Amino acid sequence: MERNEQVSQIKMLLSRLDSGTNVDAGGVRLNPTSSYTDPIVASSERDLFFRGHPQLLGLSGDLPEAGSFFTANDLDTRILATRDDDGQFRAFVNACRHRGVAVEEQESGNKRRFACPFHGWSYDSRGALVGVPKEDHFGEIDKDSFGLIELSAQEKYGFLFANPDPSGTVDIDELLGTELSKEFEAWNFGSYSRLGGDRYDVDCNWKLAMDTFGETYHFNYLHRDSLATFFQGNVQCYDTYGRHHRMILCKKAIHEMREWSEDRWDITVAGLPVYWIFPNSIVMPSDFGLYVVRAYPDEETPSRHTSVISFYVRGDRIGTARSNTVAPERQALLDTAPLEVLSEVAEGFAAIIRDEDYVASASQQRSANSGAVEHVMFGRNEPALHHYHNTYRAALGQEPLPLI
Ligand code: FES
Ligand SMILES: [Fe+2]
Repeated sequence: MERNEQVSQIKMLLSRLDSGTNVDAGGVRLNPTSSYTDPIVASSERDLFFRGHPQLLGLSGDLPEAGSFFTANDLDTRILATRDDDGQFRAFVNACRHRGVAVEEQESGNKRRFACPFHGWSYDSRGALVGVPKEDHFGEIDKDSFGLIELSAQEKYGFLFANPDPSGTVDIDELLGTELSKEFEAWNFGSYSRLGGDRYDVDCNWKLAMDTFGETYHFNYLHRDSLATFFQGNVQCYDTYGRHHRMILCKKAIHEMREWSEDRWDITVAGLPVYWIFPNSIVMPSDFGLYVVRAYPDEETPSRHTSVISFYVRGDRIGTARSNTVAPERQALLDTAPLEVLSEVAEGFAAIIRDEDYVASASQQRSANSGAVEHVMFGRNEPALHHYHNTYRAALGQEPLPLI
């Protein structure tokens, strides 16, 4: 985020704190609980949002060097992502061209050859079929035509996007829009390294997982003893960027800014930016790095999903791109914290999502499943929820939820 934007967002939060006001969606909306339970809706979402739409697979730091790879198994199409010998990010359908077995099962690593476990066909990091055992027995095939099926993929602003539909395309600038692209460019996520991650299978619809990142109204209640000790509940900034959005959460440390000159203000000290990238990704740059949460629908039921949480550490921690946006006192503190400590902080944050947010989400799902609760309600102070759901609805060809 550009410096002038950081300053203006911090000023907005301070003025809302001082005046006791909050962002206002202009009214209340009712969302039918069938949005979380209807198998027909779930099936359309899987087609439109997860099969035929570009997916955020990770960050550049997930493929740190030539030969790096990772597998992504949460979509219908299993994906093998590689960085080839020229350093280019590539994505393939992780299915052998002989009879379809996944050629790589490991989560991540570094390899030049991917050998299918079934009959040993092997592929290189550009997807080329380079080995067919007993080729003279198998029969002659044109190996050039039977490399791994390559997916449209692009690496930009530190993001790795691919389209699981082999006939689909990816254009990150088009996907994000000019304004958000510019903002992500300023974060320099491309210099971040992977710190760790976790994954949670939760008894709730994937959209309920997204919903929990959509307001701070709940902080003083659900997170009373955790996040609310250092976040200010029920105050935020909110902006939309086409299908995406940005919330700025407010930390109690924001009051330190009153003592600092504006050129040292830091949005990650004063708050927590929370970006939503349609359809399923939450991107949260913190004072030492970045959290990314992606929610994937279950293939059997709308009532379950998997959340994949990844943590990254900022480039200046590893000496590649020292930030000039962090106050010296803060930088000194971060510099002295070993990576294990940052890892523990990140794991603690993820555990709050698992043990507090997703417990509430599963409870919401149970109410929705009962059929006895027809609607849930989105308040004036929960504008992200209005935007999430009207965006999903528009993408599904449904009428928007009206303000009441
Ligand atoms: S299915 Fe891969 S080698 Fe046969
Ligand atoms: Fe929460």
